Formats: sequence, C-alpha cells, structure tokens
Amino acid sequence: MTPPPDLPAGDAPEPSPDHYFTAQPASAAERRELTVRLAGREVTVEVASGIFSPGRLDLGTQVLLRSVPDLPPASPGPDGATHLLDLGCGWGPVALTMALERPDATVWAVDVNERALDLVRRNATRLGLGNVRVVRPEDVPADVLFAAIWSNPPIRVGKEVLHDMLLHWLPRLEPGTEAYLVVQRNLGADSLMAWLDEHLDDELSVSKLASAKGFRVLEVARAG
Ligand SMILES: C[S@@+](CC[C@H](N)C(=O)[O-])C[C@H]1O[C@@H](n2cnc3c(N)ncnc32)[C@H](O)[C@@H]1O
Repeated sequence: MTPPPDLPAGDAPEPSPDHYFTAQPASAAERRELTVRLAGREVTVEVASGIFSPGRLDLGTQVLLRSVPDLPPASPGPDGATHLLDLGCGWGPVALTMALERPDATVWAVDVNERALDLVRRNATRLGLGNVRVVRPEDVPADVLFAAIWSNPPIRVGKEVLHDMLLHWLPRLEPGTEAYLVVQRNLGADSLMAWLDEHLDDELSVSKLASAKGFRVLEVARAG
C-alpha cells in the first residue's frame, strides 16, 4: 500500500509514478513551499513532486539529524577548506542543516535526481547559504576528502548500486572523522551494517549509534 505523502514513510514507496532516484522525473514538478525546523530554526523551503519525501521532513532524516553529534570544528584540509558531504540530498534537509551549522565549511549536496538538485540550489539561495555545492556524484573532484558524511541513503536503488555507492564515498572520510547513515530497520539496517563491516577496509569501523522509531543510525569511523 502506498502511504499518503504526509505520513512518516522512511525510505518508502513514493506516491509519484517516478522513482525518487530517477535522473529526470517524468511527472510535472508540482512545486510548493514547506516550513520545517532545521538546525534549530524554522525555515521555509521549496519542494516538488518526483523527489523523495516532498510532503514533509522524512522521519528517518529526522532521526538522523537528532542523533548525529555536532559537526567537527573547521580543520581545513589540504586545499584550505573543510568539506562536508550529504550523500543523496533530495530537496536538501541534511545539506542545509550542515550549511547552517557550519557556514565556514563547504557542503557538498550530491544527488542523481536533477529536480532535487535544482531544489537544493534554490533552497540554499533562499536561506542565504553561499557554502553549498550542489552537484551530481561524478562532479565532485576525486581529491576532495570529507570531515563528515551524513546520509539518508537510497535503499530502494537495490543492493548492488547502494553497496557500490557506499564503497565509493565512505573511504573518502578524512582520518579521525565519521559518517552517519540512517536506515530503516525493516529495510535491512542490520544486514547493511554487517555487509559494511565485512567490505570496508580495516581503517574504517562500523557501529550502531542510535535506534529510534524503526530506524538505525550507523556510524562509520575512520581511524585517526
Ligand atoms: C532516501 S532519499 C534522502 C533524500 C534527502 N536526503 C532527505 O533526507 O529527504 C535518497 C536520495 O539519494 C538519491 N540517490 C539515488 N542514487 C544516488 C546515487 N547514486 N548517488 C547519490 N544520490 C543518489 C535519491 O535520488 C534520493 O534523493
């Protein structure tokens, strides 16, 4: 059964005929405003059909944002900047939170859905955030390492794509930093944790940070 868009859905089926991870959603973009609380303040953003959770701040994303520790203080990388990553940004709740909390850092908002990318750009501009780089995955320079990765990853793309994606991005944590992933328990959070433990290199360790409302928040830490 397809849940109504205004109910907590986690990474649940979309009411739209498009998958939320379609590069160019075929449905018309029904744009509207949504007022939500991000980084402790009320903000109004733009959302649209054809993307993930357009009707509300997703419950899994809420669990992630409530569970993560503070972002690390700025410790500029080799290029003089601190880079943070929101992997699978959708309309941008995670990237916008990071950018509001760390105006001194560069936040990479990455997605394959062009409509989502357009919305994050507009939302960053609305909120006066000049520190968000909104790009497709292949447009992040290969030498950028991250001081934090936060993600509500696209479980429904299938295991192979999901695994490739995580093996591509998680090793790009700087030494001594962490990634946090929120995954619905009944969509395989525990098996994903076991898989990551087996397949990530020994410098990266996986543990469970939190469990709430049917979601797990997994922590992937790179040794310092
Ligand atoms: C579960 S949604 C989370 C969206 C948003 N972060 C939120 O919390 O509302 C996952 C997102 O990952 C995106 N995605 C799918 N495949 C991807 C890939 N290969 N690389 C980056 N993002 C991808 C989807 O388009 C979708 O927007």
